[in-house]
Amino acid sequence: MNAFQLRRMLFHTILATTLLTGLLVTTVSLKAVEPKGINPEQIMHGKALFEREWPARNPALGGDGLGPLHNAKSCVACHHQGGIGGSGDARFNSKSIGIEKMRISGGPINDDVIANSVRGFHPGFIDAMGQIVNTVAVSHHGGTPVYSSMRDSLMHNASAEFSAAGGPMNAEEVRHANSNKITYTSQNGKYKVAINARMFQRNTTPLFGAGLIDQVTGKELKELARSQEKHPEISGRPATLPDGRYGRFGWRGNVASLLDFCDQACAAEVGLETARKPQPNDPTTPQYRNPTVDISDDQIRSMKAFIAALPAPTRQLPQESEARQSALRGQQLFANVGCAVCHVPNVGPAKGIYSDLLLHDMGYESIDLNPADPYIYKVVPVSRIDQSREINFASSTTYEDTVSTTYYGLTSVMSGTQHSGGTSRSGSTGVDFTPITRDLGNIRFTRASYDFKYPSQPNTLMRFIPQNTAVDREVNTTKQQRRQRMQVRNNQKTGSGNDFYFTDKTDEQRETIVTRKTDYLRILIRPTNYMQEWRTPPLWGVRDSAPYMHDGRAATLLEAISMHDGEAAGTRDRFLNLSHQDRDAIVAFMETLVAPISAPKASL
Ligand code: HEC
Ligand code: HEC
Repeated sequence: MNAFQLRRMLFHTILATTLLTGLLVTTVSLKAVEPKGINPEQIMHGKALFEREWPARNPALGGDGLGPLHNAKSCVACHHQGGIGGSGDARFNSKSIGIEKMRISGGPINDDVIANSVRGFHPGFIDAMGQIVNTVAVSHHGGTPVYSSMRDSLMHNASAEFSAAGGPMNAEEVRHANSNKITYTSQNGKYKVAINARMFQRNTTPLFGAGLIDQVTGKELKELARSQEKHPEISGRPATLPDGRYGRFGWRGNVASLLDFCDQACAAEVGLETARKPQPNDPTTPQYRNPTVDISDDQIRSMKAFIAALPAPTRQLPQESEARQSALRGQQLFANVGCAVCHVPNVGPAKGIYSDLLLHDMGYESIDLNPADPYIYKVVPVSRIDQSREINFASSTTYEDTVSTTYYGLTSVMSGTQHSGGTSRSGSTGVDFTPITRDLGNIRFTRASYDFKYPSQPNTLMRFIPQNTAVDREVNTTKQQRRQRMQVRNNQKTGSGNDFYFTDKTDEQRETIVTRKTDYLRILIRPTNYMQEWRTPPLWGVRDSAPYMHDGRAATLLEAISMHDGEAAGTRDRFLNLSHQDRDAIVAFMETLVAPISAPKASL
């Protein structure tokens, strides 16, 4: 390997190939047991749970309760603007850090060397399966003193002003935190390590009307995406989840149902382990295990029932005639300049939502290294596959549920050896195709990796792994044992079609072959800018949900509009070319979209 290859390899963040596997896997998600009609008792119970400050330890269930890592002690601590269930300002943002670049020099590189290098930066970059990942959620509170001091130094490094709640003080500080590189250098034996990382944030979304969003059908989303196909600038798409459902919730649109989101939020935000979602582990105490769950499925269902019963935001037109006229004119202009192509007024039962619930590429400035799920748009059955391309996969595999504890997006893994086995062929579009063949026991596996380079970072390779990878919770073992188990898992992954390769390398579509047991499917995905795609946020209630955009970088509606880019660049420019009066009218229109007056008030 020459120096160039070595350097390239090291700079590369690799996301795994296997974004499609889960499609073939039945995910065990919490089944909604819908009561007939509305059940006021369940809703009241859910409200109490939403407002509850969770203590450490839960004697009723025997779990460790709150934490050990948590972003807040209750749901309402973040969701409260305009009433219980509302949005939260930047102080409540959740945070993650992602490695953008890493350079290691001083000797031969393998996975161990990389693991040791990132561990010193933050031990969370080694996940419970022993894989080296390139993004890690940084919980605001909890953890051992060693962990807290590590967190403090990271935040100090990001040099923005943070609140006691854990997020940046305001939109301006969000922008500071976004733009400051987090750097780490160390001498690790003979190896010299230099890491550039960045903080990524997510602003708390309001939950008013979430019950209606939950009822939007996959067909409705598909039709919206189809209706934008002929549009010259705009091409929204739903996120296809590992189990084949379309996402509806979250800034990445990567959670299919309200119930699933509640399930995840319990674990990710409050450290309440559920029957499906493990709470985030303190990486400085990897041996620690929660004896059992911290919240029951019935409790999660009640929370969901409460959120679903929250009123949808309303429309409040000014009384005064001139202001009223301006707002109504603004509504017309909003449609005329093209805002309504994405901010669609009505979607199925969600009347007045002003969103298409689809993902749009919002430009390079909006990058977050936790990628969106892919868009799978065509699955061709078995028989039409060219048999000569057959891959010999293991056939019997069972999968555990999606256990990723966050809704940030898919996991990314980094590896120093992944690319050494194959010949690399540079594609004209910056996509490398690297087939790797490995012998594992008596089964021969062929694998390929999709190396995604993101636009302004030509040195970054990405390889996708699916969300449904079983996370190994038994970490209290020797490294060797863990290795072996990982190998088994890798085999399983391959066996169930986690690996795939492209046979068609046109720009428009990449063709993929995956297996389902012994069958083959051909899956067509459209390559997109996974890192900079965001779900159009519903604008209902927008007057009361500042700051704006996925990380709360915009303090005002006007700032939010001017930060539109990518697919929305044309619309933004048409807006900016309007007279001041017309722009004001559009803003005045948006200010008529308010949080529901009937929302229960938060006592914070
Ligand atoms: C630390 C602050 C915080 C806490 C505590 C919190 N959330 Fe959230 N919530 C967020 C953020 C940030 C998002 C957006 C996340 C994303 O999309 O990346 C969100 C999004 C959601 C959504 C999706 C809404 C939509 O339309 O996309 C639901 C549902 C939700 N939270 C429910 C809950 C529940 C239930 C709890 C308590 C168990 C909770 N949240 C606790 C910050 C918080
Ligand atoms: C291509 C689709 C698209 C078009 C066109 C578009 N938007 Fe958006 N809008 C989005 C997306 C996606 C976001 C979220 C981006 C992010 O979080 O980084 C957003 C965010 C916003 C927000 C912030 C909302 C919040 O809760 O944070 C406002 C306000 C907004 N848009 C208004 C407008 C207006 C006004 C126009 C027309 C001038 C417009 N948008 C055109 C897709 C679009």
